[in-house]
Amino acid sequence: MAFYENDVGTLIDEAKLQERVRALGAEITRDYQGKELTLVCVLKGSTFFAMDLARHIDLPLTLEFLGVSSYQGGTETTGEVRITTDVSKPMAGKHLLIIEDIIDTGLTMSFLLENLRARHPASLKLASLLEKPARARTKIAIDYKGFVIDDVFVVGYGLDYAEKYRNVPFIGVMKGK
Ligand code: PRP
Ligand code: MN
Ligand code: MG
Repeated sequence: MAFYENDVGTLIDEAKLQERVRALGAEITRDYQGKELTLVCVLKGSTFFAMDLARHIDLPLTLEFLGVSSYQGGTETTGEVRITTDVSKPMAGKHLLIIEDIIDTGLTMSFLLENLRARHPASLKLASLLEKPARARTKIAIDYKGFVIDDVFVVGYGLDYAEKYRNVPFIGVMKGK
């Protein structure tokens, strides 16, 4: 029995995830033909999605990692977004595709979009595996969207609850939350 089985129920299973990630990869491959793409993976939640997605993008690309945190372990955003790790190279003139696991209130992404736009990239787009419109506090346009979900606290495939459950291999819901 897996370590999480008592705590986590399935929302989106592995097969459904992989099928959607593959389709998004194909779409990105078509849209960025002839361009040098930079994936800006938002730590830590997007890592599983980003690495699976990158495998399905048939283009030369660069990986960058940007750490931001606002939840500080809880289930409610603190509303204060902080950069905890910055990218390793200047972003000016690059075709940036931000990879995120979830747009919930949108506060993290609103901060990030503004922050990256100020670095004058050639283009700036967003891929998010999940969107939770019920809690949106600001409108974020998602260029490549995996799934729209209800107002439930999700874990797994990179998403955590108090830093735990990121390695659950599917998108799950905390039982009793
Ligand atoms: C989570 C999630 C998104 C953000 C979405 O990150 O991974 O980055 O919150 O929430 P929002 O739309 O309400 O801002 P978190 O701050 O928990 O850091 P983590 O990725 O390291 O878990
Ligand atoms: Mn995150
Ligand atoms: Mg988190």
